[in-house]
Amino acid sequence: MAKNNSGKITVVGANMIDLIAYVPRFLNVGETLHGSEFVMGYGGKGANQAVMAAKLGSKVVMVTKVGEDVFGGGTKENMAKYGIDTTHVLSTGSAFSGVAPITVTPEGQNQIVIVSGANNLLTNAEIDAARSDIAESAYLVCQLEIDLKLTLKALQVAKEVGTPTILNPAPAVESLPAEIYGLTDIFCPNETETQILTGMKIDSVPSAELAAKELLSRGVKTVLITLGENGCLIVDENVSIHIPADKVKVVDTTGAGDSFVGALAHFLALGLSLTDSATKAVKVASISVGAKGTQSSFPDRKDIPADILEG
Ligand code: RIB
Repeated sequence: MAKNNSGKITVVGANMIDLIAYVPRFLNVGETLHGSEFVMGYGGKGANQAVMAAKLGSKVVMVTKVGEDVFGGGTKENMAKYGIDTTHVLSTGSAFSGVAPITVTPEGQNQIVIVSGANNLLTNAEIDAARSDIAESAYLVCQLEIDLKLTLKALQVAKEVGTPTILNPAPAVESLPAEIYGLTDIFCPNETETQILTGMKIDSVPSAELAAKELLSRGVKTVLITLGENGCLIVDENVSIHIPADKVKVVDTTGAGDSFVGALAHFLALGLSLTDSATKAVKVASISVGAKGTQSSFPDRKDIPADILEG
């Protein structure tokens, strides 16, 4: 399905500064709680997915916007450190950089607030300026952390230049404009996002398959639902394939979905099949839940078994 085997990916999406507090349990309304540890790190679903793909060896172009503030410069430097092309990492003095206060429980579960800030001041013209990169890419990767009209614009550009698209519809929304489905080749929600989008309860692989068929009926070519510890499910009009995950010790699941999507895009951009790419992405994401933080939990190539990295 890849447009080419260039290993090049363009990500149009958000960057955030993650402010992570490790807490004994989630808060109740009006409550103040002592946390045990605080970690600040680079995050945002778009940036995370770009970093994961770049760590695996993809040529990644990131299209995003930071604030001209204490976080903006570091965010751009962080992406450059991973070899990401930051030509389209723009800045504005009109809004603060995106931030994400996060709480993580001892079981590794999280709650996340995002304030997209500068990310939403990206413009259609600035996305157009990345048209040639999108055209050269094997895949365009988007999420829903920037203004929806900007995501739509990026998907439209990809359609115009014939580049296949991966949409990770996160964070969850109840409804999406109908045209977004037709602009998406691989629609990649988690269970919660699938439930919210379809109104269908997901508590098993068969129930996920039913919801995937509902999403297919809306116009996407392939649905790939991530199922946490149960791996993922690929459904298109011909097949339904459940890919299980190995049992692993969970320390922090924050960013695991981004690790999966970034790894998926990386392997697809090398020309691997969707099933093989998803199988490898499940393994990469399983490694990421064993460490704290978001990008800081993403494995380096040296920490990934050779058989996963091989084509
Ligand atoms: O998916 C995890 C990410 O969600 C975090 O990095 C946070 O920034 C939010 O975007």
